[in-house]
Amino acid sequence: MDDQENIPVNPRITTGVQTINDLIDKRLSRRGFIGGISAMAVVSAAGCSPAQEASPEVAEEAGVFSFQEITRGLDENHHVSDEHIADLLLRWGDPVFPDAPAFDPYAQTAAAQERQFGYNNDFIGFHPLTVAAGAPARGLLCINHEYTSTRLMLPGVTDRPLTREECAVEMAGHGGTIVEIVQATDGAWSVDILSKYNRRLTAGSTQMALTGPAAGSDRLKTSTDPSGRLVTGTLNNCAGGMTPWGTYLMAEENFNGNFMGRLPADHPETENYDRYGVPGGWYQWGQHFDRFDVAKEPNEPNRFGWVVEVDILDPASTPKKRTALGRFKHEGAESVVAPDGRVVIYMGDDQRFDYVYKFVSAQAVKEGDRAANMNLLDEGTLYVARFVEDGTVEWMPLVHGTGPLTEENGFRSQGDVLIETRRAADLLEATPMDRPEDVEPDPATGRVYVMLTNNTRRTTDQIDAANPRANNSTGHIIEIIEPGGDFASTRSSWEILVQCGDPADPESGATWNSETSENGWYGSPDNCAIDPSGRLWVSTDGNERTGAADGLWAMETDGEGRGTSRAFFRCPVGAELCGPRFTPDGQTLFVAVQHPGDSDGATFENPATRWPDFAKDMPPRPSVMVIRKADRSVIGG
Ligand code: FEO
Ligand code: CA
Ligand code: CA
Repeated sequence: MDDQENIPVNPRITTGVQTINDLIDKRLSRRGFIGGISAMAVVSAAGCSPAQEASPEVAEEAGVFSFQEITRGLDENHHVSDEHIADLLLRWGDPVFPDAPAFDPYAQTAAAQERQFGYNNDFIGFHPLTVAAGAPARGLLCINHEYTSTRLMLPGVTDRPLTREECAVEMAGHGGTIVEIVQATDGAWSVDILSKYNRRLTAGSTQMALTGPAAGSDRLKTSTDPSGRLVTGTLNNCAGGMTPWGTYLMAEENFNGNFMGRLPADHPETENYDRYGVPGGWYQWGQHFDRFDVAKEPNEPNRFGWVVEVDILDPASTPKKRTALGRFKHEGAESVVAPDGRVVIYMGDDQRFDYVYKFVSAQAVKEGDRAANMNLLDEGTLYVARFVEDGTVEWMPLVHGTGPLTEENGFRSQGDVLIETRRAADLLEATPMDRPEDVEPDPATGRVYVMLTNNTRRTTDQIDAANPRANNSTGHIIEIIEPGGDFASTRSSWEILVQCGDPADPESGATWNSETSENGWYGSPDNCAIDPSGRLWVSTDGNERTGAADGLWAMETDGEGRGTSRAFFRCPVGAELCGPRFTPDGQTLFVAVQHPGDSDGATFENPATRWPDFAKDMPPRPSVMVIRKADRSVIGG
C-alpha cells in the first residue's frame, strides 16, 4: 500500500527536535554521491567484510542475468520476460476449500469470502512438502491479504455508507491464505483445494493469542477479553516471512486505518495513538462493530501492529501475536540464523521518518526439532538502527530500564516498551528513514538489503548520509554488511546500493550502474527476494509516478555489474507487485499482483483494467501468478 497521505509523521521531525543525525556533520557521504556507482563498487571492494570475502562462489554466481528485458510501459495487462511463462494461480474469490461458494462479486457475503481467496495479495511464502520419490512436487503457499480497496471490491458503494455485511466482507478479505499446491510434469502449479492444510485467516473470525512480554498487559485488555491475551483477527498483513522451523510470519502494517471514533478526553493512550495515527478512519467497520470504534473499545488498537506467527502444518492451531518483535507498522519479518544459532528477524516500520529494526532470539534454533523452536520468538532482544555517517550501523536495544526506557518516561515494564515501540525508538534517537519496507538478509553473504520506498516530505535540512535526498520521490536501497556474517551483531556497516530514479535526468540523483538500460530503472522499491543463486530481485509500489508500471527487476550486487538493474515483469495498470518468492530450485517464481485497476477515481463499475479476466462485468481481481520456463531451467537465466 502506498497511500501515505493524512498520516501523521514522527514528532521528532514535525517538532524540529534535533536528532543525532542532525548533530553530526552533514557533509555528503562518500557513498552514493561522489562518483556514483563505480566509486561505490571500489569502496565496497576495498572495505569488504570477511563475510563478503567468505563466499567467492556466490559472488561469482550473482550478477549473471541472461534474460531478455521487457520494455518500460503501462497498459491493461501484465508482461513477463521472453522465454518465461506467467500462469494465474489464485485470484481473489477463488475457492480455498471444496465447499467454497462460486465467486459472485455482485452478491458477496462474509461467509463466502471466509472460504475464498482474500483480497490484495501481498507477502508470499513457500514451504516445500516432503513427497515420495518420483511423486509430483508439493508445497504450501502462504499469502497475506493486506487490505481491501472498498470502492473496487464492492459494487455501488461510492455514495453511500457500507452495510454491516459489507464491512464483514472486508474483514473476511483481510488476513492470509494457506493452500497446498502441486506441480505437474510440465512445471505448471495448481491449487489442491482438498488439502488438509488449506486455511483462511481473517480479521473477522480467526482467534489469535497475544504472547511474549506485553501479553496480559492491562493496556491489551478489552470488554470481550479481560485477559489481554486473546484477540480476534489480524489486520493489514503486508509483507512477512517464513521461519527456519517452517512457520509463517504475517506482519501487521497500517492497522491504524481500521479504527475510527474519538478516544475519551485525557485518555492515557492518547499520546501512544497519536504516534501511530490511530484512529485513521479509513474504514467504516466501527459503525457496525464496536471494537473498531476507539470511543467504545479504547484498548483494541493496542492489540494490532504486531507480527503474527502461524503453524502452517496444523490448521487448527492458534496463531500467536509475538509481542517481543515490537508494535509498529510492520512491513516484513524475514529471518536468518546467526552463526551462534540464534534467529534474527529484520523488520521495517513503513512510514515516512520511521525506523529499521531487528529482533535477536534469546535461545538458539534447534535444528530438526520443530517443537523446541515453536516459542523462540517470545524471548529475545529488539534493536532499532542508527545509521551513522561513518558507515556503521549501531543496533540499539529496546530494553526496559536501560537508557531512557524507564518509568520516568512512562515505561513501567517491557510490555510498555513494546506497545509503544516507536516512542521508545524515538528516545533512543534511531535514524528516521525514507519509509522502510522489506528488509531481506542473505545468509550466504552476511549482507542485508533494506528497501526504502520514498519520502517526499524530507526537506534539504533533514537529509543525512543514509537518507541523502530531499523530496525523495523514487527511494533507495541500503546494503547492511553484518561483520563476519554475524547477523546478531550490534554493530554493522552500511552502504547505499543504489539511489533509484531516472538516470537520464541529471536532477534525479539516481546512481544506477551505467549498464542499466532505459527499461532497467525504477522508483519506489518495496518488496524483494534473493534467489537460490544469491541474486537480488526488487518489486515496486509507486513506479507509476515515473510514468511506467510497477513490476519486478533483477539487480546485480557484486563486481563490475554492481548496481545494474534489469526489467523482468510488469503489472497491469493500477497494480503494485508483491511477493516475490522463489522455490528452492530457482525454477519457479511466485508473484502477487496487488490492487490491479486501482488508479485515481477507479471504482468497481469503472476500473482502470479488468485484469485478469477481462470479462465485461467482472471487476479486476488481485491475483498470484506463477512464473516458470518451458524447459524448467532457472528463472532469469
Ligand atoms: Fe503495505 Fe509498506 O506496503
Ligand atoms: Ca508499499
Ligand atoms: Ca509493501
